[in-house]
Amino acid sequence: MTSGDPAAGKKLFKTTCGSCHTLADAGTTGAIGPNLDNAFGSDKAQGFDVQTIRDVVRGQIAYADSDPGTGHPGMPANLLRGQDAKNVAVYVAKCSARPHCGVSG
Ligand code: HEC
Repeated sequence: MTSGDPAAGKKLFKTTCGSCHTLADAGTTGAIGPNLDNAFGSDKAQGFDVQTIRDVVRGQIAYADSDPGTGHPGMPANLLRGQDAKNVAVYVAKCSARPHCGVSG
């Protein structure tokens, strides 16, 4: 796994993403965007590795609103960049569908 700090990512998730997304481990209950435990739970059950999910999340952060017209309020692109985006992606990949996954932040 490449560099990424899940504890730093957890803190950023709570402040930057949690208003729109539910993620049990982070204790967030946002309902504007998809519940991320549900979004990645089935991927994990199918054996997707954490690195693949991390790349999906990283891509979503960068390109979120480049596909308009979905009919609901979209997700602003580039809420985070660089190492911050990487840290959040690593955190979501590790802890989605895993409440109490052991990352403190
Ligand atoms: C203003 C509300 C809002 C914020 C803040 C927000 N999102 Fe989103 N997010 C959405 C919405 C709405 C969607 C679904 C529509 C879309 O793809 O744009 C979405 C989709 C996603 C998806 C795709 C889920 C799937 O089902 O494939 C991921 C992953 C995601 N967001 C992660 C994040 C992360 C990580 C952050 C923080 C850096 C974040 N979001 C911040 C609203 C938000």
